[in-house]
Amino acid sequence: MNDNDIPAIEISNLYVAFDGNLVLEDINLTVEKGDYLGIIGPNGGGKSTLLRTILGLIVPERGTIKVLGHSPQDNHEQIGYVPQYALFDRYFPVKVGEVVLMGRLGKRKGLSYSRQDRQIAEQALQRAGVEHLKNRQIGELSGGERQRVLVARALATEPSILLLDEPTASVDPGFQVTFYELLAELNESMTIILVSHDISAVSRYVKRLACLNQRLFCSDSLEITKEMVEEMYHCPVDLIAHGIPHRVLPAHEGVVEH
Ligand SMILES: Nc1ncnc2c1ncn2[C@@H]1O[C@H](COP(=O)(O)OP(=O)(O)O)[C@@H](O)[C@H]1O
Ligand SMILES: [Mg+2]
Repeated sequence: MNDNDIPAIEISNLYVAFDGNLVLEDINLTVEKGDYLGIIGPNGGGKSTLLRTILGLIVPERGTIKVLGHSPQDNHEQIGYVPQYALFDRYFPVKVGEVVLMGRLGKRKGLSYSRQDRQIAEQALQRAGVEHLKNRQIGELSGGERQRVLVARALATEPSILLLDEPTASVDPGFQVTFYELLAELNESMTIILVSHDISAVSRYVKRLACLNQRLFCSDSLEITKEMVEEMYHCPVDLIAHGIPHRVLPAHEGVVEH
């Protein structure tokens, strides 16, 4: 097989359980290179668990995961990760530049950072649009600034796949748009999986959507059926339809086409 044909991520018949409780059941998912997949689902649906399993941090009960054709343990350095709830104490004494440089920890060759490590961290700061914050303390930043710094830190690992877990949960609506614009730009050169419980925000920006609630409901496009959403949220779709871009749901009464 040509290297270009290898999917970024390939998951087959994956089961994950904690203390005997099944959290992920028979997950099958292929994410091609260059894809931008949004995964939505209710709290406790297993979204963070799925990302951690892709990273090789959780060992599945059953099933396989391939990251660019190899096991997560062998290929986790290809993945940049922006975790959920990366809260910093307001007085946590670390500067933005240092946080981003930490992205080089797993990659650096010696005990200290090389000139090249510093250059890569610098480029990551620029790419994420936060080079002006380099000398600020991480704890003083706004939610939106902090998330960009965490993206910069992930970029400093030079990943080809980026996983983001609820990255805009603490970002003001005004900053969310520019944050999603940044992700769209990054998607030109890397595969992205974006997890969120906010269907209306995510569905505007991704190329493909999946819903996760222990089982994964995947769609080939942005079309999600009414039944899928009802299955996910156990509530009538009309309650949430007004916040959803029209392209996601098939036409139904009460939604005005834009
Ligand atoms: N390390 C763990 N040990 C035990 N249970 C866990 C662990 N991580 C997650 N869970 C449980 O797995 C379920 C899915 O959690 P999670 O993946 O965090 O969902 P989501 O990110 O969709 O909100 C929840 O019931 C949670 O309590
Ligand atoms: Mg989560």
